[in-house]
Amino acid sequence: MMGPMDGTVQEILGSNTRRVDQALERLLPGPEERPASIHQAMRHSVFAGGKRLRPTLCMEAARIFSADGQLPEGIEDLGAALEMLHAYSLIHDDLPALDNDNLRRGKPTCHVVYGEAIAILAGDALQTLAYETLAGLRCCASRGIEIVERIARATGTVEGMIGGQVLDLEAEERTPTAEMVEAIHRAKTGALFRVSLECGGIYAGGAQEDIERLHVFGRKAGLAFQIMDDVLDLTQDSAQLGKTAGKDAASEKATWPAVFGIERSVEDAGRLIGEALQALEPYGGKAAPLQAIARYLVERTH
Ligand code: IPE
Ligand code: IPE
Ligand code: MG
Ligand code: MG
Ligand code: MG
Repeated sequence: MMGPMDGTVQEILGSNTRRVDQALERLLPGPEERPASIHQAMRHSVFAGGKRLRPTLCMEAARIFSADGQLPEGIEDLGAALEMLHAYSLIHDDLPALDNDNLRRGKPTCHVVYGEAIAILAGDALQTLAYETLAGLRCCASRGIEIVERIARATGTVEGMIGGQVLDLEAEERTPTAEMVEAIHRAKTGALFRVSLECGGIYAGGAQEDIERLHVFGRKAGLAFQIMDDVLDLTQDSAQLGKTAGKDAASEKATWPAVFGIERSVEDAGRLIGEALQALEPYGGKAAPLQAIARYLVERTH
C-alpha cells in the first residue's frame, strides 16, 4: 500500500482524489477527440496515479472556512487546474533536456510513449487548459482574478516554479550551498504548494489573515515536502518510488541531503512540519484534516 498512512489520511486523500479525478475527466478532452495523440498524452500523465496532494491541500484549506465541514461547491475545478499545472511541470521536468527520466509513477514518461514533440505540447496544453478552467471557476470574479494572478506568479520565473527549475538545472554545474538549495526548493516545488493552500482559502472566503496563515503553513510544508522528495530519491528503490531511484546523485543535483546529509535532512523536514502545524493552531480541530495531510507529507514512502 502507500506506506505509513493512517486511516484519516487515506480517507481524505481517497475522497478528494475521487472528486478531483471526476473534474479532470470532465475537463480534459476525451482520448478520441482530435488531435487524439495529444489528448492521449495529456491523459497518460494526468491519470497515471499521482497522489493529488496539491488539490487535496487546496480543498482541505477551504474546508477550514466552511460552516458545516463540507467543501465549497465547485472547488474540485480549482483542484483540477492545480493538478494540470503539476502534471505539466512533471512532463517537462522528465524531458531529455531537463532531468531525462523515463519512469514516473511506475509508468514510462510522457515523452517515452508519445515522443518529445507531443510531450512538450502536452505540457503546454495542460497549462493553457488550467487557465481556461480557472477562468470558469464558480466563485465571484474578484476572488477568481486573485486566484489566477497568484497561480500565474507562483508558477512563473520570479521565485516561482519555472524559475526554480532554471536554478535546479544551472546548479548541476556548481557545488551546492545551503542558500542555493533552499532557493531552488522554495521556488520549484514550494511555490505551487503554498499557492494551492492560499487559493483554497481565497475560494472559500477566508480573510486576509487566514490567507497569511495558509501562506506560512504552505511555505514550510512545501519546503519539507521537497526535502523528503530528495531523501526518498536516496533511500527508496525505483519500484517503491515509481521513478528512477538515485537519479539526483547521478545528475549531481543540488539536493538537501547533498548539502546536509540524510539524517539532518529528515530532522529539518520534521521540524518544518512542526512549525507549519503551529501556523494552524488558531483553527483548533477545524484544521485537523489539513494537519494530518501535512504530517503525511514527511512520513510518506513514495
Ligand atoms: C513530485 O511531486 C515532484 C515534486 C515536486 C517533488 P509528487 O510527489 O506530488 O508527484 P505525484 O503527482 O504524486 O506523482
Ligand atoms: C520537480 O523536482 C519539480 C518540478 C517538477 C517543478 P524533481 O525533479 O526533484 O521531481 P522528481 O523527483 O523528478 O519527481
Ligand atoms: Mg527536476
Ligand atoms: Mg525530476
Ligand atoms: Mg526529486
